[in-house]
Amino acid sequence: MNTTGEALAGKIRSKQAIVGVVGLGYVGLPLAVEYGQAGFHVVGIDLDESKTARVNQGDSYVGDIQSSVLAPLVAEGLLRATTDFSAIREFDTVNICVPTPLRKTRDPDMSYIVTACKEIAKYSHPGMLVILESTTYPGTTDELVLPMLEESGLKAGEDFFLCFSPERVDPGNVKYQTKNIPKVVGGTTAACTELGRLFYEQALEHVVPVSSTQVAEMVKLLENTFRMINIGLANEMAIMCDSMGIDVWEVIEAAATKPFGLMPFFPGPGLGGHCIPIDPFYLSWKTKQTGVEARFIELAGSVNGQMPHFVVAKVQNALNEASKPVKGSKILIYGVSYKRNIDDIRESPALDIIHLLKRRGAEVWYADPYVPRIRLGEEVLDAREGCAAVGDADCVVIVTDHAAFDYAALVRDARLIVDTRNALKGIRSDKIFRL
Ligand SMILES: NC(=O)c1ccc[n+]([C@@H]2O[C@H](COP(=O)([O-])OP(=O)(O)OC[C@H]3O[C@@H](n4cnc5c(N)ncnc54)[C@H](O)[C@@H]3O)[C@@H](O)[C@H]2O)c1
Repeated sequence: MNTTGEALAGKIRSKQAIVGVVGLGYVGLPLAVEYGQAGFHVVGIDLDESKTARVNQGDSYVGDIQSSVLAPLVAEGLLRATTDFSAIREFDTVNICVPTPLRKTRDPDMSYIVTACKEIAKYSHPGMLVILESTTYPGTTDELVLPMLEESGLKAGEDFFLCFSPERVDPGNVKYQTKNIPKVVGGTTAACTELGRLFYEQALEHVVPVSSTQVAEMVKLLENTFRMINIGLANEMAIMCDSMGIDVWEVIEAAATKPFGLMPFFPGPGLGGHCIPIDPFYLSWKTKQTGVEARFIELAGSVNGQMPHFVVAKVQNALNEASKPVKGSKILIYGVSYKRNIDDIRESPALDIIHLLKRRGAEVWYADPYVPRIRLGEEVLDAREGCAAVGDADCVVIVTDHAAFDYAALVRDARLIVDTRNALKGIRSDKIFRL
C-alpha cells in the first residue's frame, strides 16, 4: 500500500477518520449509528431535509434504530446529518447507501447512484475511501462509479480507494443487525480491499474480504436470487398442494425436520420489499448482455407474481362458501407492510391484492399498526382499528402476520378468514381458508 493508503489506514485505526454516509434510509442510518457508537465522527448526507432534521433532533424514523440510541450520539457530537454535499470535503470515508430501484421496463435505475457519485466526485480529494453499498448489477462499481470518480484526475488504488460491500440488513430482525451480520467487501485493487476490510473491522464483528468488486456485487445477487427462487418453489408447492387438498404448511414443516439437505422456505401472498422482488432482475438484465438467459429468475418471477391473484381467488372461494359475491363484499386486509413487524410497504403484495379486490367491486379496508395510511394511485386509505373492523367485514385476509395482532379475537369475531401466512397455525375452523 502506498503512503496515501497508509495515512488513511492510520486515521481509520485511530478512529480519527471522518465517516460519511450518503443516503440515510433503512441501510444508511443504522450504518451511521454503528460508526458513531464505535467512536467515529459521522456525517450523514441525504436529499430529504425532513430526514436530516429528524436525525439532528435525535429522532429516529427507522424501526431498527431506537431514538434512545440515536439521540446521545447526536448530543455528543458524534453524529450529524446534512443536505449539503460540500461536507464531503471533510470526509475520509464515504459509504453510498442510496436506492437502486427498477424502471417499469425492469431495467436497473442507476440515477440515484449517478447523482450521489457526481457529488462525491465534485468534492473528492486524495486519501478517501469510497464504498458503494447499494445493491446493483455486477460491474457497477468498476464500470460506472470508477470512471466518474477518476474524472477528477485522482486514480483508484493510489489517490483514493474504491470498494463494493453488499448491504445485508434485514429490517425487523432482532437477532442479526448491522453489527453482527458478516460484511463482504471487495475492492478495485488489493489496497482498496485491504482498506475496506480495515474500515469495517472497526465497527462490525465479522468482515469477509473477496477478490474484486464484481465478486462482492455478485454475492448479494446470489443471496437474493436464492431466496427469490426458493420462495417461488414454495409458492408453486402451495398452488400444487391446494389443487390436491394437501396442507402445504404441514408438508414444509415435516420436510424441514430432515437434518441435512433442506432449508425451509414458506409460501405467501407474493414478494415484497426493496430487495427480493427487484435484485434478481438486476442480474438477469446484466447477463442478457452477455448472451446468457436467467431462466430460473424469470420463472420464479412469474410464479411469485401470480400469488396476489391466487390469494384473490382464495377470497372468492371463501365468499362463495357464504354465497356472497366479491362485488359489494367488505374485505379487511390484515397487515399491509411487506413483512411482519415493520412499516415498509415498498412492493408489498398487499397493495396488489387491494387493487385486484377493488377492481372486482369489493369494498376494501385495511388494518396495520405500523402503517397509518397508504396511497393507491390517486386514492388514500386510512388504517382501521383491527379488532373494531373485523366484525363488520365479510372476509378478513391475513396478508402480513404482525405479532401485535390479536389472532384469538380475530378467529372469534371474523366471519371468514383467508390466511396467507399460516398465522392461525393449529387452529381448525370451517371459516379459515389457508394458502
Ligand atoms: N432496506 C433493506 O432491507 C435493504 C437491505 C439490503 C440492501 N438494501 C439496498 O440498500 C440500498 C438503500 O436501500 P434503503 O432501504 O436504505 O433505501 P431508503 O429509500 O430507505 O434510503 C435511501 C435514502 O437515500 C436518499 N437519497 C436518494 N438519493 C440520494 C442522493 N443522491 N444523495 C443523498 N441521499 C439520497 C433518500 O432520500 C433516502 O433517505 C438499496 O440499494 C437497497 O436495495 C436495502
